[in-house]
Amino acid sequence: MASRPTISKAVIPAAGLGTRFLPATKATPKEMLPVVDKPAIQYVVEEAVSAGLDDVLMITGRNKRPLEDHFDRNYELESALQKKGDASRLAKVQESSDLATMHYVRQGDPRGLGHAVLCAAPHVGHEPFAVLLGDDLIDPRDPLLQRMIEIQEQHGGSVIALMEVAPEQIHLYGCAAVEATAEGDVVRISGLVEKPDPADAPSNYAVIGRYVLAPQIFDVLRETEPGRGGEIQLTDALQQLATDEKLGGPVHGVVFRGRRYDTGDRGDYLRAIVRLACEREDLGPEFRTWLRGYVGQELSEG
Ligand code: UTP
Repeated sequence: MASRPTISKAVIPAAGLGTRFLPATKATPKEMLPVVDKPAIQYVVEEAVSAGLDDVLMITGRNKRPLEDHFDRNYELESALQKKGDASRLAKVQESSDLATMHYVRQGDPRGLGHAVLCAAPHVGHEPFAVLLGDDLIDPRDPLLQRMIEIQEQHGGSVIALMEVAPEQIHLYGCAAVEATAEGDVVRISGLVEKPDPADAPSNYAVIGRYVLAPQIFDVLRETEPGRGGEIQLTDALQQLATDEKLGGPVHGVVFRGRRYDTGDRGDYLRAIVRLACEREDLGPEFRTWLRGYVGQELSEG
């Protein structure tokens, strides 16, 4: 049996404005946009739970009430389905409310990801904890968080997730300067820079939305001035930890080579839906047949 992880808390920042998805996100959180038939955020909470983290703190803000409702009971709907004897839909409704112990805190002003993480300090206390961005989907068949927790347990400090991207894409991400370690998928982080110009990027390793953080990150974040875009950047605080180990131990990176979708980006969101729908047992066979025909005829004509 796997030993109990020392990390039990997951923090999910979901207070961003979601401007890339307007107007859909004017009154609906982008994390509630459906990926096939589940809101994106449910995949993220499921990922935390399968990595052994069943205490989940969501950082929310204005217009984010549907997030809380989704992970709560809906007695009216449940009793209507019960009366109809629709057990399978009832199970779907109850699934999200039984997943994890959910907590919520409001960010107030969305002053950046670093500020959102700082809002978790009273709940997290003095333990290492995980951060999962609510609009980043990691395919459950390519587990990442478990590996990050393992590396944190081995080395202490903090662990970030990295993905190799094309050099012309690096300006869209935080970027890490890295040193190799004895393990092929693990690097040591020597520096971090948020959304660099490709000419200044120290590597093509992009930071993606999973972190296992030492609690000392809170002390650093309290002192972190607004950076790029006038926001308090988590990357800037991690840069401090990476360059001064005395603050909170080393920062390592786990290089992820699996499937990931940024559901806050319209193109990636569409790709996620098509891929996941194709792979679903219930919808996949019919959808794949339709898609083959569509790609063969409509797209070749266009
Ligand atoms: P994004 O950079 O994707 O920003 O934030 P956003 O506002 O959500 O989306 P766009 O770019 O305007 O479309 C990365 C993550 O950090 C959270 C977001 O909810 C997202 O999960 N975040 C960002 C906060 O919780 N608070 C903030 O102040 C900023």
